[in-house]
Amino acid sequence: MTDYRFAPLAEQDSAPLYRQLYERVRGAIAAGSLGPGDRLPSARALAKELGVARGTIELAYSLLTSEGYLLARGQAGTVVNPHLQAQAAPMKPAPSPAPAAEDAPDSLWRPGQLLPFQMGVPALDAFPRKIWARLGARYLRGMQADDLDYPPAHGLPALRSAIASYLQVSRGIDCGAHQVFVTSGWPASLAFVAHAVLGAGQRAWVEDPGYPPARQILRQFGLEPVPVEVDEQGLKVEQGIALAADARVAVVTPAHQSPLSMTLSLPRRQALLDWASSSGAWVVEDDYDGEYRYSSRPLPALASLDRHGRVFYAGTFSKVLFPGIRLAYLVVPQAQVARFEQIGRALFAAATPRMTQALVADFIAEGHFTRHIQRMRRLYGERRTETIAALERGLAGCLKVEQSPGGMNLVLRLPGDASDRPLADHLLAHGMAVQALSRWWASSRRDSALLLSFTNCTSPEQAQHLGELIRQAL
Ligand SMILES: Cc1ncc(COP(=O)(O)O)c(C=O)c1O
Repeated sequence: MTDYRFAPLAEQDSAPLYRQLYERVRGAIAAGSLGPGDRLPSARALAKELGVARGTIELAYSLLTSEGYLLARGQAGTVVNPHLQAQAAPMKPAPSPAPAAEDAPDSLWRPGQLLPFQMGVPALDAFPRKIWARLGARYLRGMQADDLDYPPAHGLPALRSAIASYLQVSRGIDCGAHQVFVTSGWPASLAFVAHAVLGAGQRAWVEDPGYPPARQILRQFGLEPVPVEVDEQGLKVEQGIALAADARVAVVTPAHQSPLSMTLSLPRRQALLDWASSSGAWVVEDDYDGEYRYSSRPLPALASLDRHGRVFYAGTFSKVLFPGIRLAYLVVPQAQVARFEQIGRALFAAATPRMTQALVADFIAEGHFTRHIQRMRRLYGERRTETIAALERGLAGCLKVEQSPGGMNLVLRLPGDASDRPLADHLLAHGMAVQALSRWWASSRRDSALLLSFTNCTSPEQAQHLGELIRQAL
């Protein structure tokens, strides 16, 4: 809806000006864009903004106050009545059950608020916010004039070397800090690669099913995504070669295939690297959640096997810290560093705040990062086991949860004739953000399954209820 503060009031409207403002504020409260306790602008400021007399605003406010929508708090200003909660909540629109996937191909629809079982979000309740606040306060207190300047083009040196050391130890990648380019997220990392080494009209292997935004970004750069199937060993490299041996890039999720979570097997890793080095193609390794493996130690990254400098390794802090941080990185082969420095300076330089980078560098250097990942691995292992058990209780044998060695989500295959989209929409209407696998397919093959995350699932009852809802719907 239009922001009630900024759209001018209409003089020629049949309703008087105070009444128009009254309706706007009431509408904003009903729609939830003004919530209980929210402060309204002072009558004087709003009158100036809207170009009307102060008395007009005061009249609208007093009417809203007399009807219980607003509360005048003297010096503290006018606020939306905090006790409106019970009335306002049902007026808020329920999350729309109509995902936009069909309207905008390959965009991943997500509800406006975090709902149970939503994919791709780490356990936000378990992030060490106190430590983060302490590091933040220390940084702010110690800030010097230099810290107000633009951050260095490719990332703070302290962060780039902290990432390089972490990758050496934890992901087996032999890289120097100068090969690490800090970005604002996976889309920026992929766009960086596309700008630097790819060109319009080229073909790109993408996993099928696979992370839809990757296809969308490739298309925006004029590349043609070629869907390549996955099986229990991950990407079918042979099929990729048969379909498009001349592709210039393969975008893959080797640690846990997105969204099915299987691991790219060693023979397939080798075959992929052989294809890339013999045909001069690139591989983009999207290692978005490689740290989360429950039955054994995390596997080394694909980039650790790259002897010919064909792999761009893309990491993100969205899963190991939190997605709101918008911080990621790209590790480029040694021979590409100069090119990325040049391209990056013009297009991707200094794109993430200095303070965010400094805090993450400290978080890593002081050992919190490693501890946090270890804690999360344990916690996810527990939540995963509990969620599977509770879901299966609710499902009472009508479906089985697919087990995978790692990742952050579960897969529930549906019987051949059941369509996943109406079922996912039905569950969304019950406030559960379960996704339909068919929305992740790039080709016309569309096996039905439900995808859901366990990372934020703290209540087995909720998982059991989900299982029951699915059983009843089926
Ligand atoms: C497969 C995959 N890659 C990358 C990302 C991370 O992207 P970003 O760094 O933009 O948060 C996600 C997040 O959900 C993902 O699922």
